[in-house]
Amino acid sequence: MNELRFDGQVAVVTGAGRGLGRRHALLLAERGARVVNDLGGSVTGAGSGGDPAIDTAEEIRNSGGQAVADTNSVTTPEGGQAIIDAALETWGRVDILVNNAGTVGDAAFDDMTEDRLSPLVDVHLKGAFFVTRPAWNVMRRQNFGRIVNTCSAAGILGAPRMSNYGAAKTGLIGLTRVLAAEAAGLDIKVNAVAPVAATRMMDYSMGSAAEIDSPQAEELMRPFLDRLDPALVSPVVAFLAHAQCPVSGEIYTVGGGHVSRFFIGRTKGYYNPTLSIEDVHAHLDQIRDPAEHTVPAGAAEEMADIYQAIIAG
Ligand code: NAI
Repeated sequence: MNELRFDGQVAVVTGAGRGLGRRHALLLAERGARVVNDLGGSVTGAGSGGDPAIDTAEEIRNSGGQAVADTNSVTTPEGGQAIIDAALETWGRVDILVNNAGTVGDAAFDDMTEDRLSPLVDVHLKGAFFVTRPAWNVMRRQNFGRIVNTCSAAGILGAPRMSNYGAAKTGLIGLTRVLAAEAAGLDIKVNAVAPVAATRMMDYSMGSAAEIDSPQAEELMRPFLDRLDPALVSPVVAFLAHAQCPVSGEIYTVGGGHVSRFFIGRTKGYYNPTLSIEDVHAHLDQIRDPAEHTVPAGAAEEMADIYQAIIAG
């Protein structure tokens, strides 16, 4: 197999000081690309401190790669601009953006007050907006860019106590798909990963779930967790960031070396021009039946499916 390389390209990886982001940055740097960002702070977002970004940048340079540490937060437009400017000022370009920075803060929905919601929307959803906008500008001008957003099965599929996190993360799917649509005709691809990896965040979430499920849960899960090396997520992120990546607007679930695609499907459904509540009740199985489902590539394609059903018959 030909080695897929990134020579001459500049990658910004947010939250690259630890966990998944660190592994993404190390792999991209090993293959010729550069830059890291990390605010620092705890898994729930308390505090800050530039050490993890500095450590990853040093690690890359010590292995012969190129990196600058950036310690801005992704949570403001100024922070997003500064992160992209760090790449532009050092190397004059940005080709790849991996929106990875994130925090958690689980709570039952009864306790999901504004102070638990806002920080997560800020870091995951607004953070991706704020870093992507200045990068997008550059990518459009050069007609090349690769953006990889980090979403989560917790939102796509649902997980208790994660309404703040799941909602913020799943907003990123909307961002991924809309940007992919806006980039049609340009060599800009925007995709998402839903990772599964043994990091401090996974430890926190397991601990939070164990409190309400069973205290033995973590013990039982340990052999599985041991297989979830974050480095095994990075090849998918790097492929989606590569010039040869042919797909856009897609979501890949990745963990422990296993890769699969999540897609948004639409059942064939049921049509009745005089649809009533009782019709919905009587035909629920047909409405839900996944046989013959389609996977519309965008909102226009789904409109065409509806047109087909009600006009063309
Ligand atoms: P982690 O806690 O090890 O790493 C996250 C990094 O983001 C930390 O180094 C942190 O300092 C940095 N960060 C936090 N807020 C920031 C901000 N405002 N600006 C810049 N950097 C900031 O967690 P992990 O597991 O590596 O998570 C990486 C991404 O993957 C996150 O977006 C997370 O939500 C997502 N994810 C992780 C899963 C897992 O199984 N570990 C599952 C699903 C999603």
